[in-house]
Amino acid sequence: MSFDIWNRRYTGSKLKLIDWIDELINKNCKGKSFCDIFAGTGIVSFKEIEKFDHIIINDFLYSNNVIYNAFFLQENYDLEKLQNFINNTRKSIENIQDNFFSINYGGKYFSYNDCKIIGNIRNDIEKYKNEFNKKEYCILIASLLYSADKISNTVGHYDAYIKGKEIKDKFIFELIKPYIFENKIIDIYRIDSNKLAEQIKCDIVYIDPPYNSRQYSRFYHILETLTKWDNPKLTGEALKPPGENMSNYCRSSAKNVFDDLISKLNCKYIVVSYNNTYNSKSKSSKNKIEYEDIVKSLQNRGEVDIFSKKHQFFNAGKTDFQDHKEFLFITKVG
Ligand SMILES: C[S@@+](CC[C@H](N)C(=O)[O-])C[C@H]1O[C@@H](n2cnc3c(N)ncnc32)[C@H](O)[C@@H]1O
Repeated sequence: MSFDIWNRRYTGSKLKLIDWIDELINKNCKGKSFCDIFAGTGIVSFKEIEKFDHIIINDFLYSNNVIYNAFFLQENYDLEKLQNFINNTRKSIENIQDNFFSINYGGKYFSYNDCKIIGNIRNDIEKYKNEFNKKEYCILIASLLYSADKISNTVGHYDAYIKGKEIKDKFIFELIKPYIFENKIIDIYRIDSNKLAEQIKCDIVYIDPPYNSRQYSRFYHILETLTKWDNPKLTGEALKPPGENMSNYCRSSAKNVFDDLISKLNCKYIVVSYNNTYNSKSKSSKNKIEYEDIVKSLQNRGEVDIFSKKHQFFNAGKTDFQDHKEFLFITKVG
């Protein structure tokens, strides 16, 4: 088995900051339950899971949800059955028919042959769905997502594919490594963070919203389509499906939705990650919430401690911002 949960390229992933975040949470917060309400790759949940009895993981993307179920769902799975399925997908390319993936993305986001294979595997997962339990089904889809994402002809997201370059056949279907955690309650959600805030009670809530106007559902649309497998009508040069899960945190309303979220949380500690790309040259990289507004919303709930760290963040393309700082705001709810 090959992929760990962090083995993917993801804008805003806290992989490189995880030890710093973890240390600050350990030092400043106490509790038995932890909620990762904008979980993204799930790396923060993965790091924190050992220390808590109850973990809540949420993100509104379909692909992220299937990945959390694959890695964290507390259900048995039959590895041999999964490996057999993978072995049976290895057919000679002439015997594989054209499909949604090869027709639309062939020679663009992946080589034409790789698209044929990826689309064919996804069709087979659906065809044999009844032979798998939920965990196994999610493991297969998550494995396909990681295997495809690893070789995509992109800079790490699907806002565009790289042009003018020969795309080699590289696809290898490999399994993710699901994790077993004893005696834990793990709740996985795929809903809007502000709605979830109304439903949960939890000791520590970790908040890592999008920072700028780049919508995750548009950046990762191919992973969403590969997960949903709903044959969408694609438009534009980037071949995107109709818009869905557009986040208010990427709009000018960000400040208000953030304040609404903070005001609704039923918890003892609120931990917020944010960064200072306020002066970014590119408009789409500019922060949607001002530092002062974050502090103001948090101070309405209690005493706020602010920690910062210099950090070279993942920037798919040219770096237009030098003095990047990552902030962690920890609020002890009064
Ligand atoms: C900065 S990323 C989180 C990164 C994550 N902490 C990690 O280390 O990988 C923000 C995430 O919030 C999700 N998101 C954006 N708006 C949301 C909303 N309103 N409700 C739930 N999830 C949302 C996006 O899909 C994205 O995965």
